[in-house]
Amino acid sequence: MKERLIFATGNEGKMREIRMILADLGMEILSMKEAEVSLDILEDGKTFGENARIKAYAVWKETGGIVLADDSGLVVDHLEGEPGIYSARYMGEDTSYEVKNQAIIRRMEGTKGAERAARFVCAIAAVLPDGQVLHTEAAMEGLIAEHPVGQGGFGYDPILYIPQFGKTSAELTMEEKNAISHRGKALKEMRAKLAALYGGRA
Ligand code: IMP
Repeated sequence: MKERLIFATGNEGKMREIRMILADLGMEILSMKEAEVSLDILEDGKTFGENARIKAYAVWKETGGIVLADDSGLVVDHLEGEPGIYSARYMGEDTSYEVKNQAIIRRMEGTKGAERAARFVCAIAAVLPDGQVLHTEAAMEGLIAEHPVGQGGFGYDPILYIPQFGKTSAELTMEEKNAISHRGKALKEMRAKLAALYGGRA
């Protein structure tokens, strides 16, 4: 029988990326909705990894099997790591990203070059059928742009300039972003760990 892997997210965009990257494991991949789990999870961890584990573990307690969850955000060096694990909640959950992005740019005033270093970080936790927990974490490095640029992507994409491509994350094509994204890299690392345990292509 195929192993069942549930990814603890309600986000369809994430599920598409997850299905693509984990397809070769030969597992049945389900979203929380498909697994018929509806939970309000309090993410009160202090790190991306802790929050990912809290989410995965809460769903695993309901379902068993293999449960994965992720937590991600923007980390700005000059702002001592803010907005970090509070990225979605920064300035209030209902505040638009135009406002959040402008606020971050304003807080960067007087900085230049490497002082503007920032990154998207993504942690993934997997709870296995026996309760063992696996972790991976990866980042996509950049600099806070002088102005928001680009229409693609979401969230903080318009203000993270990626020197490797000479454009912001909001200007990258889906293929460009998936190849270097924090989530893509952390997921591929997790795929390798799961493949080592369960077989399938790493
Ligand atoms: P979560 O991991 O789904 O809770 O997302 C956390 C928040 O981090 C999002 O709401 C965005 O504000 C931000 N974030 C995470 N990844 C990205 C990205 O790839 N682009 C832009 N913003 C991101």
